[in-house]
Amino acid sequence: MRLVKSRRDLDQALAHLDGPDGVGLVATMGFFHAGHVSLMKQAVADGKSVVSIFVNPRQFGPEEDFDRYPRDSARDLQIAEEAGIDLVYMPPEADVYPPDFATLVTVSELSDLYCGHYRPGHFQGVTTVVARLLGLIKPRRAYFGQKDYQQSAIIRRMVADLVLDVEVRVLPTVREESGLALSSRNVFLTEAQRQAAPALHQALVDTEREMLAGERDGARLLAALERRLKRIPGFKPQYWALADRRNLEPKGTAAIGDVLLVAGHFGETRLIDNCLLGESNQGARTLLELT
Ligand code: PAJ
Repeated sequence: MRLVKSRRDLDQALAHLDGPDGVGLVATMGFFHAGHVSLMKQAVADGKSVVSIFVNPRQFGPEEDFDRYPRDSARDLQIAEEAGIDLVYMPPEADVYPPDFATLVTVSELSDLYCGHYRPGHFQGVTTVVARLLGLIKPRRAYFGQKDYQQSAIIRRMVADLVLDVEVRVLPTVREESGLALSSRNVFLTEAQRQAAPALHQALVDTEREMLAGERDGARLLAALERRLKRIPGFKPQYWALADRRNLEPKGTAAIGDVLLVAGHFGETRLIDNCLLGESNQGARTLLELT
């Protein structure tokens, strides 16, 4: 595995790496867990693979956790190497945002819903950095996690709208055995919060089960989800929604394949999760394959 830290070295390394199938990119902010690893393994299975590690300041709000976002590059490099990654790009900020950088990429509407409503500018920061990384690395494939469902929908929209020549692949959420979705931010949870946090996934699964048993009324399903979320000790729900899986528009009547989205806080720590109705068992199978 090769590590590069400058644009010049990146270009040179990519020239060596490039084969007939191009490269696959896993864009990350580091502090790897099994969710990142599942994306890496898929990228490795599909061909030459690049991981970028960059804690993107532009996607954090002024009151958010940019400064305390967990970082451990030595450990990350070891994990990437073990996953079989060919190239890691750890750019300095000036590579990503040179002084004359002036372009902001915004996917309108989709970026204002749900997480975007509570984190203004967040998705603009994400799409701007992902567009920049796609330009720098020019991957044929790019891998994202379903865990950040809205993010993946927005990136798909951006790639389609700008006719970017990259295949976006979204892989299932990797969870702890308890059901808790893996997240770099889980390290901030206290022991008590960690005990309570799996109930977030459980609330989604219980609501999904209710839907599969025949309840299709969105308002009733969301009221039940709200009750479940509000029962979780120490958890402050921020939003809970039923949406179309592609355009994320809120739905009044649930159908198989719609997505339930939730976000909230344990203390200062913000967690999100989601569930594609009718597919949560598939997520569980993926976890078993990985562990
Ligand atoms: P980060 O949070 O590091 O996540 C990198 C990728 O890993 C994202 O595609 C995310 O959806 C995926 N991921 C995180 N947790 C996961 C889990 N439990 N299961 C499966 N996939 C998971 O998301 C970002 O970074 C940034 O916004 C980024 C896209 C890199 C732009 O800065």
